[in-house]
Amino acid sequence: MKKLIQADFQERRDILAGEMGLRSIAIIATSPVAMRNRDADYKFRSDSSFFYLTGFAEPEAVAVIETFDTEEEGYSYSLFCRERDREMEIWNGYRAGVDGAVDDYDADEAYAIDLLDDEILEKLQNKDKLFYRIGQQADFDARVAKWISTASGESRKGASVPAQVIQLDRIIDELRLHKSADELELMQIASDISAEAHTRAMQMVKPGMMEYALEAELNYVFGKNGCVPSYNSIVGGGANGCILHYVENDKELKDGDLVLIDAACEYQLYASDITRTFPVNGKFSPEQKALYEVILKAQIAAIDAVRVGNSYKEPHHVAVRIMVQGLLDLGLMQGNLEKIIQKESFRQFYMHGTGHWLGMDVHDVGSYKVEGDWRTYEEGMVVTVEPGLYIAPDDETVDTKWRGIGIRIEDDVAVTKNGPRVLTAAVVKSVEDIETLMAQSK
Ligand code: GLY
Ligand code: MN
Ligand code: MN
Repeated sequence: MKKLIQADFQERRDILAGEMGLRSIAIIATSPVAMRNRDADYKFRSDSSFFYLTGFAEPEAVAVIETFDTEEEGYSYSLFCRERDREMEIWNGYRAGVDGAVDDYDADEAYAIDLLDDEILEKLQNKDKLFYRIGQQADFDARVAKWISTASGESRKGASVPAQVIQLDRIIDELRLHKSADELELMQIASDISAEAHTRAMQMVKPGMMEYALEAELNYVFGKNGCVPSYNSIVGGGANGCILHYVENDKELKDGDLVLIDAACEYQLYASDITRTFPVNGKFSPEQKALYEVILKAQIAAIDAVRVGNSYKEPHHVAVRIMVQGLLDLGLMQGNLEKIIQKESFRQFYMHGTGHWLGMDVHDVGSYKVEGDWRTYEEGMVVTVEPGLYIAPDDETVDTKWRGIGIRIEDDVAVTKNGPRVLTAAVVKSVEDIETLMAQSK
């Protein structure tokens, strides 16, 4: 299956170095290893922006990119990483080491990570600008501040040190927001595997099953494809579907209830993000079906609004209008459509936005506004479209028959010059298609 190659990462570094200008240095660290409990750590997952520039997936690594006095000198890419260590490799696995950093990861120079404090002071000399991801890791921020103050002390001896510290994320985030054809291919793979997982969940669910057992069916599909979840899976039966970030997944799935699954995997560090809501027993009740069809209509119309030149907010406005009309038609709300939209009183049932950027992070980087205005869609952006309605189980303003129904439908949409491309189309979402698929698997 598709993988990025070193030339892809180099191309990204080329662009970054070009944007930095002359006499500049960029410092970018990967994520720290996170401890789970006592000496057991979480499986390491690289920082997305670090990996975006390096393709290097080991922990304890820092990349440095330097430009010099003239364009002819090009730029230099240094990778600080763990040294080879026979004993550590027996216990914890293979390391590329400094030779591997040069030979396999195309670093111009590589150093043991332990040398970072010394070497960086050298590299800061004779630079005008420091590009750094301010605010990502407090410990590393403190280290960078110390390097700057130490280097400034040295400057009394004649060398110059950066006079400007610039937020590196502003450049990288904008690059990451626009996906290349290769990146879209990786996101399509993540979406296809995630769609297969949702299809399996629809086929395997039955009344009496535990939510975690259904989650295991998703994890089976992710795992057998070499993937991990791109965020904590939500598997909420009945009213648990109304809890937006429900992750306990420890209750029984009941006959007559819906189950809301918001779960997807990442492939080669590119995420998918899918939600489907379907009946535990395979057949929607009249109320479930009525509400579901309102949301589906809103979602399909909102997807159609993901077009080059449209405002980022357009899908939200489209979805809200259709859902409010649906709530009025079903008698769940009373009043005037325009007033409800203007006052946002629909937030009783729809309290989140309709989407977010998607990429290497599930809530991906990239600004949503430019100079105070919502930005417009451009080719290569990927956004989720995820309207939902959540009728709280204790909501006394509505008839009891509606209470405790929570529904969200979420797909991932790439902006193309030919219109919206739904990456997650492989998993069914119409009432008829869901019921047919579930009936076939009984
Ligand atoms: N799964 C997270 C979200 O939909 O935003
Ligand atoms: Mn989402
Ligand atoms: Mn989601």
